[in-house]
Amino acid sequence: MQAPKNGFFYVIDRIDGRVISAEPITDVTWASRIDLETGRPVEAANARYRNGPFVGRPGTAGAHNWHPMAFSPQTGLVYLTVRESQTIFSADPDYAQRPRGVFNTGNRRQTSFGAVDLLAWDPVHQREAWRAPMGGGGVLATAGGLVFQGRGQVTGEFVAYRADTGEQVWAHDTPNGILAGAVTYSIDGVQYIAVTTGAGGGGMTGGTDARERQPGRVIAFRLDGDATLPPEPGPAPPPNPSAERWSGAQIARGEQVYAETCARCHGMAAASSNVIPDLRRSMSLTDSAFWDAIVMDGMLTPNGMVGFRERISEADSHALRGYISSRAQTLQREIARGGQGANQRASAGAMGEQ
Ligand code: HEC
Repeated sequence: MQAPKNGFFYVIDRIDGRVISAEPITDVTWASRIDLETGRPVEAANARYRNGPFVGRPGTAGAHNWHPMAFSPQTGLVYLTVRESQTIFSADPDYAQRPRGVFNTGNRRQTSFGAVDLLAWDPVHQREAWRAPMGGGGVLATAGGLVFQGRGQVTGEFVAYRADTGEQVWAHDTPNGILAGAVTYSIDGVQYIAVTTGAGGGGMTGGTDARERQPGRVIAFRLDGDATLPPEPGPAPPPNPSAERWSGAQIARGEQVYAETCARCHGMAAASSNVIPDLRRSMSLTDSAFWDAIVMDGMLTPNGMVGFRERISEADSHALRGYISSRAQTLQREIARGGQGANQRASAGAMGEQ
C-alpha cells in the first residue's frame, strides 16, 4: 500500500505488482483516474501545460511526501499525513540550461498550500475513515490501539489519537517541531516510544524563530517517565546588518542566487527557524573575509555547510551578503516596531519544491 506524491492511494499485489485499486486521497486535477489494466494514470487535458498554464493538484510538494505511513492490523486502516496544495505550471519561454545543482525543469511554478490533516484511510474500500486536523509528520500505529504523530514547526507537540476514531487522547510539548515517524520498542517489559524532533531546513518546514539555535534531539516516552527536558533556549542574537552599501542590482542578484542556492536550507527570504542558522543574525555578515571562508572555502564543511566556490563567483558571494544584510535591516526595523520578523512564506518560485 503506497500513497506517493501524486494524490492517489495505491493497493498493489505484492506477488506480481498488479495494481488492485488506486483512488484519490485529495483533490486531483492532473489525472482523472488510474487505469487498473496498465497501472498508468489517465491524464487530464493540458496536464503537461503545452497549451498554456495548468493548475495542478496536488502541487509539487505532493499530497503525501516522505513521512512514514502506518498500518494497524487491528483497525485495518492506514494512517498518513495528507496535504492540500496546488501548483500553477507554465512553460518558461526564457529557459536556458542552468548550472548543475539548480532546478532545470524548464517551467515556472507557483505553489500554494491548504490544510494538512492526519488521514485514516480504509484501503479495502478506498475511502476515508476519519481525519484529524493539524496533521504533522510521520505516523506510528501501536497494538495498544493508538496512533502517534508529531507536529509543529518551531516548537512542537507529540500527539496520540485513538486508532479507531481519531479522537486525540494525549499530547506532550516538545522543544522542536517534529517531522520524523516515531518507533516503539520494549525493554524488560517496559514499552518506549521514541521520536526524533527537529523540523530541519527552514525552506519548506520552518517558521521563523527568535530563539537561540536549537538543534533537534531524540525524545523517548514511557508510562510514568520522569525525565525533564533541558531549559528553553535564550533569545536569538540580534540581526547583524553590515554598514557597507550595495547597489539595487547587486541586492537583486543576491536574492536570485540565494533563492536558487541557499534558501532550501537557510529558509525562504533569508528567514529561518534557526536550526540551520538564520543568516540575518550571523556574525559573518559584517566580515567579508569570515563570510568567504565559510561560503566560498567551506570552513564549516564538517558541520554540513560546504563551500560554494565551484558554484558561485566572488561577485555573487558579495551580492549574497548584500541581500542578506538588507534582509537583516528589514528584520531590525520589524523588531524595533515590536514584531519578531515574520517569515515570508511566499510561494516557492525560483526555489522550487522538493
Ligand atoms: C545543504 C544545506 C545548506 C545550504 C544549501 C547552504 N547552507 Fe549555509 N549552513 C548550513 C548549515 C548546516 C550551517 C551550520 C554549520 C554549523 O553548524 O557550523 C550553515 C552555516 C552557514 C553560515 C554560518 C552562519 C553562522 O553565523 O553560524 C553561513 C554564513 C552560511 N551558512 C551561508 C550560506 C550561503 C550564503 C548559502 C548559499 C550560497 C548556504 N549557506 C547554503 C547548511 C547549508
